[in-house]
Amino acid sequence: VQIKELNLQKILAPIEKDLETLEKRILENISPSSRSLNKILSEVFKSGGKRIRPAISFLVYRALCFSEGFSPDRDLEEKIFLIAEISELIHTASLVHDDIIDNSNLRRGKETTNNKWGNAISVISGDFMFAKAAVNLSLLDCNPIVKIFAEVLQNLCDGEIHQFEKQFSVEFDFDYYIQKSYKKTASLFEASARAPLELMDLDTSTLHSISVYGKNLGLAFQFVDDVLDFSSDSLTLGKPSFSDLKEGQITLPVLIALEFFYENDLAKFKSLSQLLKNLGVGTKSTQELSSEILDLLNSAEVFPKSMKFIQDYTEKAKSSLDFLESSIYKNSLINLLDFITVRKF
Ligand code: FPP
Ligand code: MG
Repeated sequence: VQIKELNLQKILAPIEKDLETLEKRILENISPSSRSLNKILSEVFKSGGKRIRPAISFLVYRALCFSEGFSPDRDLEEKIFLIAEISELIHTASLVHDDIIDNSNLRRGKETTNNKWGNAISVISGDFMFAKAAVNLSLLDCNPIVKIFAEVLQNLCDGEIHQFEKQFSVEFDFDYYIQKSYKKTASLFEASARAPLELMDLDTSTLHSISVYGKNLGLAFQFVDDVLDFSSDSLTLGKPSFSDLKEGQITLPVLIALEFFYENDLAKFKSLSQLLKNLGVGTKSTQELSSEILDLLNSAEVFPKSMKFIQDYTEKAKSSLDFLESSIYKNSLINLLDFITVRKF
């Protein structure tokens, strides 16, 4: 039996140095003159985070260097660091803004910026990070990468607005859910994987394969996030659990249950739809509704079904890497897929 190594730190060991340098660079390079902003940014970046998006950029770059026989190049490596910083800055800024929108008080096990500093200062802190990402983009001197990340920003905003439009709606539409998940999450994963390739002069089939990897990894990541919202607790997650129901968002487990009941048990379909509708009107407490919803989800066995649904995406991501020669970096890219599916946070 092959024992899978699913400890994130071990998976990322081949790029440990890159990630350590990244931590220093993020904090050193982002240097506002106002004292509060300095404090907020260092609090936010020191509060943890898995650094998965920058890790993807480093791993893809190093796996390709190995596979294509590129020799290390300082100028190129400096640019890979800029890309890694850009994806982490955009990700972090979007979370700071998201927590304001969701009025959330907990992130990565700590008090959110909005809770501690208020919404006004938090909006501007997020904007400052986006602006820093734009400065890094200009330093890359590479228009295709500017386009990649500018489109990600558009996708993030578009995805967020879609969530508003479907708030407390009980329509179930897998395509819509997948599209929304692409916009709010997978597009940044895809960009983190894809951007380094713009500096490497590779053929279109390589560009395509790496995009497929990033996109499917990102989709699987978001789907797992949506499952964890139901199946994990707030202490492990470091953020409030059951938040999607509270925010009126229908995600994978509920979609699977609705589809299953629609085809097999119309009475339960009606009960679940009614419970979801009740979330929006506030007659019963969300906690009470959530536990009734969870019972229905379990009766449709949505959790094993969700994992099966997610597996299609991780398999697709994995086979897109077939073209790469074996290396410790390629292994990590593959193990990352297993990690994101079994993670608890
Ligand atoms: C987390 O969603 C949020 C995102 C993945 C992106 C949110 C995007 C924005 C707020 C727009 C960003 C703004 C600009 C200017 C680009 P979630 O609430 O489902 O996840 P959570 O449970 O971690 O809070
Ligand atoms: Mg949120």
